[in-house]
Amino acid sequence: MTPLVVAQITDCHLQNDPRQDYRGQNVEQHLDRVVESLLLQSPLADLILWTGDLVHHGGPEGYQRLSQRLADLPVPSYWIPGNHDDVALMQQVGHQDSNQTDNPTVRQLNQRSLVTGGWGIILLDSTSEPDGQGGGSLAQCELDFLQQQLQNFQDYHCLVVLHHNPLPVGSDWQDQIMLGNADLFWRVLGQHSHVRAVINGHVHQPSDRMHNGVRVMMTPATSVQFKAACPQLVLEDDPDLRGPAYRLLALYPDGRIETSVKRVAG
Ligand SMILES: [Fe+2]
Repeated sequence: MTPLVVAQITDCHLQNDPRQDYRGQNVEQHLDRVVESLLLQSPLADLILWTGDLVHHGGPEGYQRLSQRLADLPVPSYWIPGNHDDVALMQQVGHQDSNQTDNPTVRQLNQRSLVTGGWGIILLDSTSEPDGQGGGSLAQCELDFLQQQLQNFQDYHCLVVLHHNPLPVGSDWQDQIMLGNADLFWRVLGQHSHVRAVINGHVHQPSDRMHNGVRVMMTPATSVQFKAACPQLVLEDDPDLRGPAYRLLALYPDGRIETSVKRVAG
């Protein structure tokens, strides 16, 4: 049984000027390493999900560099915003590129749902009602979209994709800025037995657990990692955990999931 191979890349925090560091790291180079690693994997991923905080200051430069990079990849990409992103700008850059190229790898950047390999994938914008600290919620229209897509995809296994974590991670500062209306999110998912998994970014650390029968996977960043179970923000200092990372998921037609976090040298 051949699985659909999905890569998740998250929290790149690209700077306007690619020479500028983020928290002491050249995140542009981190992303280079991650993309290089991804392209060396066999089998090659079928698609890449970019799960927010793609730039740090919300300026156009990072999006333009990123979308150019994605145009050169042999794998189609789909992106959603995080709390550091500018949603309108992402829409604009994704749309421009869609119009200016025949390359199918960039046509779908702003696409919000797809069906492939027996799976339905639904991408959500969780940046509504920002609290100024990094928190965000799903607007009512996003919850309605989720409900509608899950109904449309009832014959498929479903993967739901968003930036903010819908479960706490056990770090006080991060749990205050998790998905603001996670209760409403889980209420929608609870009405559909074909949701197999949720993936999110935002937490800059890995997690993999079951909740209400759904596998919830969180993924380390390409930029910098945050130490788990800390009351305040502490950068990861464990040499085995602090490097740039991404996640691979093998989604099988029978609903099975195999996954691993790939770490690369910083
Ligand atoms: Fe982030």
